[in-house]
Amino acid sequence: MARFIRNPFRFEGIVTGEEFCDRKSDIDSLLQYMHSGNNVIISMKRRVGKSSLIKEIFENHIDKKQLISGYTDIYGITSIKELYLSLKDEVEKIVGLSTKLNIASERIKNAFSGAEVFLELSKSPKVKIEFAGNDYALLIKKLFLSLREYAEDNSLQFVFAIDEFQKIACLSKDEVDKIETNLRTAMQESKRISFILSGSNQTMLDKMFQEGRPLYRQGVHYPLEPINEDVFFKWVGKKFKRKEITISKEAFSYVYNLSNGEAKIVQQICFELFARTKEFDNIELQDVCEIVEKIYKSNSEISAKFNMLKLNEQKMLKVIALENGSGVTVSPLLLEYNISSGSVSNILKRMVEDYIIAKRDSRYEIIDSELKLWILVGKQALC
Ligand SMILES: Nc1ncnc2c1ncn2[C@@H]1O[C@H](COP(=O)(O)OP(=O)(O)OP(=O)(O)O)[C@@H](O)[C@H]1O
Ligand SMILES: [Mg+2]
Repeated sequence: MARFIRNPFRFEGIVTGEEFCDRKSDIDSLLQYMHSGNNVIISMKRRVGKSSLIKEIFENHIDKKQLISGYTDIYGITSIKELYLSLKDEVEKIVGLSTKLNIASERIKNAFSGAEVFLELSKSPKVKIEFAGNDYALLIKKLFLSLREYAEDNSLQFVFAIDEFQKIACLSKDEVDKIETNLRTAMQESKRISFILSGSNQTMLDKMFQEGRPLYRQGVHYPLEPINEDVFFKWVGKKFKRKEITISKEAFSYVYNLSNGEAKIVQQICFELFARTKEFDNIELQDVCEIVEKIYKSNSEISAKFNMLKLNEQKMLKVIALENGSGVTVSPLLLEYNISSGSVSNILKRMVEDYIIAKRDSRYEIIDSELKLWILVGKQALC
């Protein structure tokens, strides 16, 4: 039976350790902020590696005796109560972890004096913190102010990440305002807790920055850039070595550019290349195009996404993809797709507002790179 060589690429979920490429300078910068108790707002489009970066730092770059980390992903919340409960769960967990540093249980009760505290101190400590009341925005403030008091009384340093933060936009405007005001109070001034708010910038985070809302002035804005191409190339090359496969720089550059630097897409293409390339072979441009076609041809999930858009938007996406974002407003394809010249700027403007596309200098970029790839494959416009 042939020897099975485990595929080293992973394109689903959070990656850390061996599966995580570089980001050394991001890690260094964020560690500085975390240790100094600064708040950071990490924003960037989807699938660039925000969650993985946070988890990588928490798992592999901090001394747990020096900095206690909490991470909660609020993607699933649909109410302010659920938001509170998910934050509280994590606060309970990190307070539990801190007890391993020999802190007397009385000290927890003192700091969380506004709540009932239940403690079970064992090898895996369990802490329950119950504040009375149902004004959940206020309870969020109480929760973090108590955590802050606890940190200060015991000279502890915490870092608390709230991932998919843009999800709070699903709540009513009133609730969002209240959450922001209360969270802001909790985030202010304390050098013992560093808050990391992270989310995709297509949605509200960047908008809120632009509006200069006070919560976001409490933190450093950290737009996470894609992994550097050369560093990614070297990392990928090492992984392919596991099967004695080589990949040409031209082929990798093509993958990287097609993906707009989105780590997930790079990993997915490399995963398929690794699976389908024979040992000792070299990967060239043509191999990449074949694989991209395999992944994106008849991809029902992406075609469903595409069909959710209005017809004019679908046509415009095709023009943008085929023109690679440049010269869109004067493209001969507009005529082919029957988009009247009078409506072009309006359609583009609306699509920018709806975060379907972004405008950088005079180029248009399709925010969801998978849609772009799906269009290019459908139009046989690769290689
Ligand atoms: N540093 C990295 N090295 C290699 N691959 C990475 C890295 N970061 C992310 N990836 C790839 O991208 C995928 C998505 O990563 P992650 O979930 O961290 O991104 P995200 O920006 O949080 O996405 P979302 O906006 O959807 O939450 C991972 O499954 C992995 O394939
Ligand atoms: Mg994420």
